[in-house]
Amino acid sequence: MTTEKKGFYVTTPIYYVNDIPHIGHAYTTVAADILARHHRMQGDEVFFLTGTDEHGQKVEKAARERGKSPQEHADGMVGNFRALWPKLDIGEHAFIRTTDEHHKRIVQELLQQLWEKGEIEKRTYSGMYCTPCERFWTAKDLMEGRCPDCGRPVEPIEESNYFFLMSRYQQRLIDHIEQHTYILPETRRNEVLGFLRSQPLGDLCISRPKQRLAWGIPLPFDAEYTTYVWCDALVNYYSATRYLAPEDGGGKKWWPADCHLIGKDILTTHAVYWSTMLMALGLPLPRTLFAHGWWTVNGQKMSKSVGNVVDPNAMADRYGVDAFRYFLFREVPFGLDGDFSEDALVRRINTDLANDLGNLLSRFLTMAEKYFDGVIKRPSSYPMARSENEFAAECIKALSGAWREEYWSRLHFNLILESIWDMIGTGNNYIAREEPWKLARSDPDRLVTVMYNLWESLRCTALALYPFMPGTAERIGTQLGLGSLAGAMEQSRTAQGPEGGSSLFRWDGWTPDSPVKVVRGEQLFPRIESAVKKEGKLQKTEKKKERPAMTEQGVKELIGIEDFARVELKVGRVVSAERVEKSEKLIRLRVDTGEERQIVAGIGKAYDPESLVGRLIVVAANLKPAKLMGVESQGMLLAATDDEGTLSLLSLEKEVKPGARIK
Ligand code: MSP
Repeated sequence: MTTEKKGFYVTTPIYYVNDIPHIGHAYTTVAADILARHHRMQGDEVFFLTGTDEHGQKVEKAARERGKSPQEHADGMVGNFRALWPKLDIGEHAFIRTTDEHHKRIVQELLQQLWEKGEIEKRTYSGMYCTPCERFWTAKDLMEGRCPDCGRPVEPIEESNYFFLMSRYQQRLIDHIEQHTYILPETRRNEVLGFLRSQPLGDLCISRPKQRLAWGIPLPFDAEYTTYVWCDALVNYYSATRYLAPEDGGGKKWWPADCHLIGKDILTTHAVYWSTMLMALGLPLPRTLFAHGWWTVNGQKMSKSVGNVVDPNAMADRYGVDAFRYFLFREVPFGLDGDFSEDALVRRINTDLANDLGNLLSRFLTMAEKYFDGVIKRPSSYPMARSENEFAAECIKALSGAWREEYWSRLHFNLILESIWDMIGTGNNYIAREEPWKLARSDPDRLVTVMYNLWESLRCTALALYPFMPGTAERIGTQLGLGSLAGAMEQSRTAQGPEGGSSLFRWDGWTPDSPVKVVRGEQLFPRIESAVKKEGKLQKTEKKKERPAMTEQGVKELIGIEDFARVELKVGRVVSAERVEKSEKLIRLRVDTGEERQIVAGIGKAYDPESLVGRLIVVAANLKPAKLMGVESQGMLLAATDDEGTLSLLSLEKEVKPGARIK
């Protein structure tokens, strides 16, 4: 059987070479990578295009200031972008530069066509010009005499120029937007429609006299003029299909693009200029134009002068590329504006990544090693009826969210991630509910099922996470004994993908012929101590006060609040637990109390170590370290014992963050 491969073509804006890459560039490019990876997983052939926008006055000026030719200057700057993409784990992509000879030729070819079709006209024009924005404005556009976009002064200019007769396409464009799911999100679509319906659309000046802008592509029908940078830049999406697209397997056509990803600030140029240019050329419009929101930084607009520009290189170095990628798409629905702060990023790492995901994998691996020497088998009773396997049913539901076609076509990345986290939460609850450490004694058959279920949920989690966090997904895959996930997906590319039918993506879809052996690797996401919550409070209350006098004989000494305050009680989460060799009573725990510490506790008769992992407990955190059977304990956990010797650990009624102070 031959399955027809679909082509999927996704683009980012081409970035101005003068800029140093910042979070905005990273945002769109990672979004495109997520889509590209998702489609490759589905078996589609993908063309993923990014690149640089290199013509125009700003580049010319910056080059002059550095004593370089514009081309030399652009050649030097372009490396900043090329180097960033591997660092952000951006997969296979093509890179276009508007100074490519091929691109320049195709821009000229299209302009010539428009000229011959009578879509371009020469006119004498007078208006106000904003040099930094490279845009003309009419007197009524101006804001207090200044450029309405950047607020800088404008200059009056009168000259002859060439105009694309964009106004002809106003109604056709309105109709197209109304009849197709073209512009997303909905709010942006309404914005464009509102603009188009409320005023007559003007024509677009597409040239600059050569003496004013030499660094551009000459108009093919009048060498005294160069092409307006936006015309040159927008054409990149089409020209790339003619010389940078992957070999076309079965006569696949790469135009129209499936998805142009852009920021909200460049919506008009794309939705209006580019769409009408395509209409005039008789070319189909892209299927989707998605405009995302902007990031502020700690509540402020990001700007070089404020010095708060977020450097994606630094974020990937400091927090790991996957944590950064995850944060960008989990924190804020794609399409809305969001606020970036390192504190918020650290919070996401500690809660979603370390606690939820990291803990689940680590607990599973500990139990797999302990009960089955790491070997996981599919139980003979599988697949089981829904009533017998509530857990599988819950996971399948979460999984259908992660692969939901509507979420993917509307770029609801945060909802996809939420669905994946539903599955992770379900796994953690399942362990608490089933108490595998008890099953190990009471019902070994059920334990096989529970462990297979957990393995399967983690396998499905890894695959669903792959487009967002490819490195993490691979690390999970390796620890689950799957080898390379990318390799497995490549093998199943015969297939129809998550929605269609590749069994790889479905629950119980792996069914290995033989059992798999899990291999514990490094912790996925160690917790990060945020600089803000370092201690220091205690010292203030530490001053010794007079002890209260003894009261009557037999009545215990009372202490003041200051004495109580000297004991630092903190919430801790048990990361791992194991028996101390040759001791019945002692358990060695690794506990996260904001920072990780080792605690040895005499609770081995009342608790199995496995039952402790993941629990929130209360820790006396400022005790001097002590050794118990030669093992150092950095603190003590709190437990109650009654007259009958029943021992019960203090726990928390609600989920609070490890490290929280108990007062
Ligand atoms: N060269 C044009 C695009 C031409 S596409 C045919 C351009 N280049 S740019 O370098 O300025 O692009 C910046 C991209 O980053 C835009 O999509 C813009 O929306 C985005 N961002 C710039 N600052 C941003 C934030 N603070 N937050 C999110 N994205 C932001 O425009």
